[in-house]
Amino acid sequence: MPDSTIRNEAYQADILHAVEADKEIVFVLYSILDDTEEKIKYALAQILDRRARADLFTPLYSCTKELIANAVKANAKRLLIDEGVITDPDDPIEVVKMIRSVLNEKSLLEYGIKAKEHRLSTRVYFKAEPERFVIEVINNVPLDGKDLKRILERIEKSSKYDSIAEFYMENPDPIAEGMGLGLSMVVVLIKSIDIDWRNFTVSTNGKDKTYARITVPLA
Ligand SMILES: Nc1ncnc2c1ncn2[C@@H]1O[C@H](COP(=O)(O)OP(=O)(O)OP(=O)(O)O)[C@@H](O)[C@H]1O
Ligand SMILES: [Mg+2]
Repeated sequence: MPDSTIRNEAYQADILHAVEADKEIVFVLYSILDDTEEKIKYALAQILDRRARADLFTPLYSCTKELIANAVKANAKRLLIDEGVITDPDDPIEVVKMIRSVLNEKSLLEYGIKAKEHRLSTRVYFKAEPERFVIEVINNVPLDGKDLKRILERIEKSSKYDSIAEFYMENPDPIAEGMGLGLSMVVVLIKSIDIDWRNFTVSTNGKDKTYARITVPLA
């Protein structure tokens, strides 16, 4: 039996035990790796199955993946600034160019190692409570007032739409690091599964953490 099969079975049993005991599950990431994605997928599928809400899996997994990508990118941006690769964090064109340069497999790995050394983690929490399920993604860089305001405005604007294509046509974001569509996709997806868009929040402690949270009411 190949090693990976043995490892897979071990993690699945661990996750299953935690899910069956309704324990909080946390994944700690420094980069985006297939292995971790598999574990996160497995945990989410098991939790939703247990609540007979397997129908929520695809949209919630897409949202979780997007929030992880944003968190890992924000940590990488901090490293790029600390390393002096980004010389002017207020120059959106430079920031976008540099962030995009680390968004390939090889650089993500390299930045994952650096992120670990600098304790810039991304934590994914799955909290299955009796009446709700909370997904929280936390990364180690605070948001300043200006960024938080920009993010909250985009979330609120997206809440008026049911399609990201329509949102994008009417609200392009020239200074987003990617397409600037992730947050709107989360809003549109959670609306599509009848969850109030206000159940998606982004906040910061202003010191060393940014929190992205989705609260899923469960009957
Ligand atoms: N966890 C976070 N920490 C810091 N900034 C964030 C975080 N999440 C989002 N942002 C900021 O919000 C902006 C918009 O996020 P959004 O996911 O909509 O777009 P994007 O990630 O730039 O592009 P896309 O998701 O389309 O690839 C980001 O460019 C980034 O500046
Ligand atoms: Mg994004």
